[in-house]
Amino acid sequence: MSEQLLKIEDLKVSVEEKKILDGVCLEIGEGEVHVLMGPNGTGKSTLVSAIMGDPRYSVDGGRIVFKGEDITEEKADARARRGIFLSFQTPEEIPGISLENFIRTARQAITGTPLKVFAFKRELKAEMDKLGMAPEYAERYLNVGFSGGEKKKAEILQLLMLKPSLALLDETDSGLDVDAVRTVTEGINAWHNEHNSLLIITHNAKILEGLKVDKVHVLEGGRIVKTGGAELIGEITEGGFNAVKEDN
Ligand SMILES: Nc1ncnc2c1ncn2[C@@H]1O[C@H](COP(=O)(O)OP(=O)(O)O)[C@@H](O)[C@H]1O
Ligand SMILES: [Mg+2]
Repeated sequence: MSEQLLKIEDLKVSVEEKKILDGVCLEIGEGEVHVLMGPNGTGKSTLVSAIMGDPRYSVDGGRIVFKGEDITEEKADARARRGIFLSFQTPEEIPGISLENFIRTARQAITGTPLKVFAFKRELKAEMDKLGMAPEYAERYLNVGFSGGEKKKAEILQLLMLKPSLALLDETDSGLDVDAVRTVTEGINAWHNEHNSLLIITHNAKILEGLKVDKVHVLEGGRIVKTGGAELIGEITEGGFNAVKEDN
């Protein structure tokens, strides 16, 4: 059994007075890959946003424990410094800040030490190459005019450059063509190792084929209604969520 990285205990979360999560329990060990599935609007994005500490989501009960410490009350930037990273379902466009500056600022904020500009640029270029991103994207304003696939690649680039110990990826594959799915999967695998863990929200069987999935959770009605191994993916893809719930 691997060392525990994240533990969520009986988490209750509401958004604008509306109760969304009603007692979510979830544990992720070091190095593990977990998939979060569930019908639309059930609270998957809410859960990862609450783990990241997005202030729009209010925690009404329960605890979030990361590396043995209670971070339930902590601000998002403090959680980022601890090594938690969230890739958004719909990445925001930020005119005025280039992709490179954005990543550099984030990395400096996380490490707390000034970075060496040329080494950083070299590293950024190498990672962009791996993702098949043309170098000029480094100078483009973050996500402005990026296609869906380019936005997702920019998120994976952040993953590679910020090296979090827990990555929360929210439907990273949506809007990607088959080649881009492969690139994204390769990017995830390049970052992943036995110490850092992934919680990915996706229904795309293709992206899941490329990952070594340890556990699958189904969220419905504000709770995790089923947890199992990678075999759940096929069962859900074939028979829908009801197929896995009936034997629960
Ligand atoms: N920022 C927000 N403002 C208002 N309502 C929200 C917000 N985020 C989520 N919700 C609502 O919370 C519910 C769960 O949404 P979400 O977590 O995005 O579901 P999922 O990711 O599973 O599709 C939905 O009813 C959604 O409308
Ligand atoms: Mg969502």
